[in-house]
Amino acid sequence: MAARKRMALALLAQGNGLHPASWIAAGGPTDCSNDISYFADMARLAEKGLFDLFFVADTPAARTDNLDAWSRYTPYMNCFEPITLLTALAGVTSRIGLGGTASTSFYEPYNIARLYASLDHISHGRGAWNVVTSGNNYAARNFGEDKLPPHAKRYARAKEFVEVVKALWDTYDDDAIVYDRERGVYFDPAKFHVLDHQGEFFKMHSALNIARCPQGQPVIIQAGASNAGKELAAETAEVVFNSDDELADAKAYCDDVKGRTAKFGRTPADIRVLAGFTPTIGESKWEAEDKYRQLQELIHPLVGKVRVASDLEADVSDLDPDQPIPLDRIPQSANLHTRYFEQIVDMIKNQKLTLRQLWQRYERGNKRVLGTAADVADTMQEWFEAGACDGFMMIFPTLPGGLESFVARVVPELQRRGLYRTAYEGRTLREHLGLKRPASRYARETMKAAG
Ligand SMILES: Cc1cc2nc3c(=O)[nH]c(=O)nc-3n(C[C@H](O)[C@H](O)[C@H](O)COP(=O)(O)O)c2cc1C
Repeated sequence: MAARKRMALALLAQGNGLHPASWIAAGGPTDCSNDISYFADMARLAEKGLFDLFFVADTPAARTDNLDAWSRYTPYMNCFEPITLLTALAGVTSRIGLGGTASTSFYEPYNIARLYASLDHISHGRGAWNVVTSGNNYAARNFGEDKLPPHAKRYARAKEFVEVVKALWDTYDDDAIVYDRERGVYFDPAKFHVLDHQGEFFKMHSALNIARCPQGQPVIIQAGASNAGKELAAETAEVVFNSDDELADAKAYCDDVKGRTAKFGRTPADIRVLAGFTPTIGESKWEAEDKYRQLQELIHPLVGKVRVASDLEADVSDLDPDQPIPLDRIPQSANLHTRYFEQIVDMIKNQKLTLRQLWQRYERGNKRVLGTAADVADTMQEWFEAGACDGFMMIFPTLPGGLESFVARVVPELQRRGLYRTAYEGRTLREHLGLKRPASRYARETMKAAG
């Protein structure tokens, strides 16, 4: 009998948690965002919970306007640079995968190839790169532009960017470095490949100055929800984050992305889709709901408005919180985060909420569950068994508390149900996820030529 398929788990790690009021909620640490030992403890706890991946999101910018609001909502304003953080965490963990975001709009491929190859070596095969095109104009202004390039242009650059990075990761064949002291030869020049690339965005005569990675290549993550985003995911990603809050939508997304793989010579088995999942765990459903309600009430109106404004891509600062948003405020289309835009527009049009109700209910996608450990496990089981995902990106409203309860109470429940591992079986992130180690493009060519 075939072994039962197990779900994958990733942790979205961020300061006090992902809820906008998490940092003022009672009981959490106040100074954790710049405290490496705080993140080390969190990574070790996720590793104790046998998570596949510890993940750090990023945008390369602080907000520079509206500071009265942003001073009450901290994540973008004080955070570690992801690759630096993950590299430090590689030294205090041994199994959990380490993934982080870097934007194709603001890096050069050579930097990314080098940084993530180094992370993969330092972590002995646990590195992953989340490819984003970025979704705010603050970042553009740090790099000499007034605003982001149009969505289609950002994705065209991202596609070429990933191609180049992957080619650079194949510079050395696996067995290229021979350390032959007798002959005085360090590497075999026949197994060292110089990339000549001339595309729309990049011109390179280039080779990477680091040996091939333990994983062959670090794992590529992507989370685009637009058509261009899904195309890029189907062509290049190995892990895809989804942020639908309804099972049927999540399943449609999963089928859609996996269904697009064939035209790129890939198969659905080459991709793991992780659904964004936001649990609040209580002794009873009532207690979980009450915990969450208390957090929601802590959202300051300025923060509520700025969160709605960011994803709606429209100013709402002058609006009365206790009135609905006028429909003529809604832009024609999104240029930043397509899925978040669609979700918030859908809520405005179909749920007839006041602005205040909107910021209290809007969740940036993700499946929210308020209940006991068994309730949380039930929903995860339902989504997983329905084929809506291959696992979950856990987005805890408060950290480290949410993760502590989950590891103590939900992980054993999932294990009891045979849905989750009881020990790490592999060493690398690819092994945890059941993803194959990619052969170098040059090795593939040689094999093809040999028939
Ligand atoms: C779990 C998760 C993590 C994400 N992390 C980031 C991030 O770190 N930085 C970022 O700019 N976007 C992040 N995103 C947003 C998507 O990548 C975003 O939707 C995309 O960049 C916009 O493209 P789209 O229009 O194709 O959706 C994340 C999305 C999800 C679901």
